[in-house]
Amino acid sequence: MISVRDLHKRFGRQIVLDGIDLDIEEGKTTTVVGPSGVGKSVLLKIIMGILKPEKGEVRINGRSMTAAKSESEKNEIRSSLGVLFQAAALFDSLTVYDNIAFPLRERGSHSEAEIRKKALEMIEALSLEPYVLKYPEEISMGIRKRVGMARALMTNPSILLFDEPNTGLDPLVGQEVYDLIKETRARWGFTGIVISHELPEVFQVSDKVVMLLNGKIEMQGTPEEFISSDNPAVIQFLNGKIDGPIKIQ
Ligand SMILES: Nc1ncnc2c1ncn2[C@@H]1O[C@H](COP(=O)(O)OP(=O)(O)OP(=O)(O)O)[C@@H](O)[C@H]1O
Ligand SMILES: [Mg+2]
Repeated sequence: MISVRDLHKRFGRQIVLDGIDLDIEEGKTTTVVGPSGVGKSVLLKIIMGILKPEKGEVRINGRSMTAAKSESEKNEIRSSLGVLFQAAALFDSLTVYDNIAFPLRERGSHSEAEIRKKALEMIEALSLEPYVLKYPEEISMGIRKRVGMARALMTNPSILLFDEPNTGLDPLVGQEVYDLIKETRARWGFTGIVISHELPEVFQVSDKVVMLLNGKIEMQGTPEEFISSDNPAVIQFLNGKIDGPIKIQ
């Protein structure tokens, strides 16, 4: 469970987040939407403790990320988080197997035998056996996403964060990513936060949708509530129109 309270973030004179209150419920997937530049990635980076807000608090499973004093305290809180960025961000010089093993090797607290056991479990669960010795450039985008997911799940995170998981993918592969989210969530039951532009496609993995606009939460609710909303900004955003209350940058 993640709670965000009265979060404020600015860069110089630009106010990005202007008082955000948000509860990310356990075991559910919350999707954060909004026009480009609205602060979705900034919100995610504050949750991860990469950026510091001027004001407000983020608590992850009861522990305050924003009040964490040291990098090691932040790392402890981060240990419940898994992250899947755009393009899956695999290491090009490592094989699929070594990419998947990476997070546990980096922790330095596991033997190679333990790492192998866990990696093989993830490889089997995500049907990656044929690719273990290949390099990222030798596999398709859809498979790379599966590898990224396997890598993110290696540390048994209770919360998975996805920033635009299918930007730049063709629609077929994009659908594979949604199927992958559904499939892994059913098996591991993580709490999800998905940042996305892709409406209404992303609704299929969303229990709750939160729309950011002008530093605030414009609306939050179920996908059904969004689809039937009469809020002009929501209607404009869902329809992808240029004219309306949202200024397209
Ligand atoms: N480190 C930074 N320094 C200065 N400005 C920043 C920094 N990070 C983000 N910004 C600004 O904050 C605003 C919000 O950025 P953010 O990346 O969160 O947008 P976004 O909603 O994720 O957009 P997109 O949908 O295009 O990914 C933008 O105007 C961006 O230029
Ligand atoms: Mg972004």
